[in-house]
Formats: sequence, structure tokens, C-alpha cells
Amino acid sequence: MNEISGKTAVITGAASGIGAGMAEAFADAGLALALLDLDVDNSQRIADRLAQSGVEIRCYAVDVSDREAMKRTAAQVAADFPAIHILCNNAGVAYAGVPLDRVPDADWDWVLGVNLMGVVNGLQAFLPSILAHGEGGHIVNTASIGGHHVMPGWRYGLYTTSKFAVVGLSEALADDLAGRGVGVSVLCPAAVDTAIYDVGRNRPARFGGPFEQAPAPDLVAALKAGMKPVEVGRWVVRAILDNQLHIFPHPRSRAFVERRHGRLMAAYDWAAQVAPEIEAAASGGRP
Ligand SMILES: NC(=O)c1ccc[n+]([C@@H]2O[C@H](COP(=O)([O-])OP(=O)(O)OC[C@H]3O[C@@H](n4cnc5c(N)ncnc54)[C@H](O)[C@@H]3O)[C@@H](O)[C@H]2O)c1
Repeated sequence: MNEISGKTAVITGAASGIGAGMAEAFADAGLALALLDLDVDNSQRIADRLAQSGVEIRCYAVDVSDREAMKRTAAQVAADFPAIHILCNNAGVAYAGVPLDRVPDADWDWVLGVNLMGVVNGLQAFLPSILAHGEGGHIVNTASIGGHHVMPGWRYGLYTTSKFAVVGLSEALADDLAGRGVGVSVLCPAAVDTAIYDVGRNRPARFGGPFEQAPAPDLVAALKAGMKPVEVGRWVVRAILDNQLHIFPHPRSRAFVERRHGRLMAAYDWAAQVAPEIEAAASGGRP
């Protein structure tokens, strides 16, 4: 999209953190906004704060992990705005400190239900109308730098599983939508100063309801020192205008990705080393 002023964006997880930061940056860029979140009171507070921007802002209470509720909300948003152009599947929950062999069933359902299926549900609910109106559009899926590498010792395998999936989904979606007027970005931040460590506050009842997760003090400190959400929002605006697929707002996270790719290339080197043995055995050259 070369011009976004006057268009409309849907943001999930808009009541707090990065979603609220996107809302602020988008309002500054002249976009009308549909703010979706479980926490409609806080969404309304964000909307009130942005009222002076003059853009139309409406709030919707919805659980992104609930497919039917997302479809109903999409119908309501379609009735309230002339057209939707930008969809930010951003709602997500953090999960760390539990090794994969100890993750309870309900937590698998909750974290994958929000972080992965929330993105899928957003696409199913909103993408058809974005493609249909022919005015162009853009999808932004919030993953994480945790969708590109595993931080040793963090025990956040469930979270990283969900975020690797969002990166893969987004790359495939960009290919599927190429030439159809709708761009795709996948947002992969490192630390951002949000309330994500207080994640248990918004767990829906069907996944066990709210709970208190004692956050690791170093994690809280890292987030507090992180990028401000509105700055992330400005990266997203620029990425939409540039049709940039991968968004890495933190230059220092480059080292994580390089290290992982180094390990992947080392795996190819290992394969090249052992291949003659395997091939010889396969062709009967070895018992
Ligand atoms: N904060 C970081 O350092 C960081 C880094 C990388 C990626 N992220 C990702 O950014 C996204 C936003 O997180 P944040 O840091 O702004 O956290 P946050 O907790 O401040 O905001 C998340 C919002 O999502 C909403 N939400 C949670 N579950 C929901 C559900 N089932 N349906 C609808 N809304 C729901 C919450 O009510 C909240 O308003 C997440 O996908 C997260 O994984 C965050």
C-alpha cells in the first residue's frame, strides 16, 4: 500500500502494549481503527486517548481464539466501516519457565489457541473481504524474535512453537497473496515495554480462567528496558508502506538469527560429511 491515510485497520490485542502502540501510530497516520481485545474497557481507554487524532475508532470485545466469535465480530466491523484494508493479528500471550515435557494440556490449548489459531481465525474472518474490495490491503502478523531462535534456559518451548508457526504461516501467506494486492508482514520484536509478563490476567475461562504467573525478575527488567510500543507501531506503519515481509525492529536480535543460521549451515556440513557413508551403505558398499 503506497498510501494508508483514510483507510481502515483492524488490530487484535489492541487494549495494551504493542497493539495499543500500533493504534497510536496508525491514528497518527490517519487510519480509522477497529480495536479488538478481550479487555474492551482498556480498548475504550486507548480509543479515548486517541480521540484527538480525529479518526474513527470503535472497540469490540472478542476472544481471538474463538473462531465463531471472530466471524461474528468481522461481520459487525464490516457493518460499521465502509471497508477494511489492514489486519493486524497481534493478540498473544507469553509463556516461559515450563519445559515442554511439563506443559499441561490446557496451556497447550490456550497458547496455541491465542498465538497461532488467533492469527488463523483473524485471517479467516477478515481476509476474504480485504481481497474482495480490490482497494489493496496488508496483513501484519505479530510473531516474535522467539519465532526465529530458541533462547537457552528460558523454557519457553510452547511460546516459541507458536511463534515459529506464525513466521512460517506468514511467509507462506505472502507467497499465496503475491500479485493479489494484499501485502504481508510478520513482526518479530525482541523486548518491548508491555504488560505481557502479567499475561495470566486475561486467560479465558475455557482455558482455566485468570491466574497469576510469577514472572522471572530478569524478564520483567528486560521488558521494562525494552522498546516503547508506539515505536514498534511506527516500524509497522513503515513496513506496510514498504511492503516489507520480515520486521526486525531490534538490530541487536540479528545475532540470534545469525547464530541459528550458523547452526543450520553446520548441519549441512555434517550431512555432507556423512553422506558418502550413507550412500555407500545404501548401494550395498557396506554391510
Ligand atoms: N512484549 C514483548 O517484548 C514482545 C516481544 C515479541 C513479541 N511480542 C508479541 O506481541 C504481541 C502483543 O503482546 P504485548 O507484549 O503487547 O502484550 P500485552 O499483554 O501488553 O498485550 C496483549 C493484549 O492481547 C490481549 N489478549 C490476550 N489474549 C487474548 C485473546 N484470547 N483474545 C483477544 N485479546 C487477547 C490482552 O488483553 C492484551 O490487551 C503478542 O503476540 C506477543 O507475543 C511481545
